Amino acid sequence: MEEHIIVTDMDGNTHTIPALEGWRIMEIIKDAGLPIRADCGGACCCATCHVYVDEGWRGKLVSANEDEVDMLDEAMGVDEDASRLSCQILYTPELRGLQVTLAPGTRD
Ligand code: FES
Repeated sequence: MEEHIIVTDMDGNTHTIPALEGWRIMEIIKDAGLPIRADCGGACCCATCHVYVDEGWRGKLVSANEDEVDMLDEAMGVDEDASRLSCQILYTPELRGLQVTLAPGTRD
């Protein structure tokens, strides 16, 4: 597969799903039919798109801005090193194979 990311759901199942440049990671996960609430639609005001980024990928992402950090304070099960809001990460080819795990609070 060309552009793609790898997502582990809350049941521990791993899915390799196609990705499109310029899409938010949240949109890519949702478009693949995986359970992610993303209640605010990507406006950085719900934290229901919370994911844990695999250790090897953390340094390759643009850092979280202040709004994202503030919103992450509201999320469940935050891991300071791994937690990000997936609506605040845009997919680029440099992120091909990005591995994330859906966090608690992302599904009903
Ligand atoms: Fe609401 Fe990401 S979709 S903060």
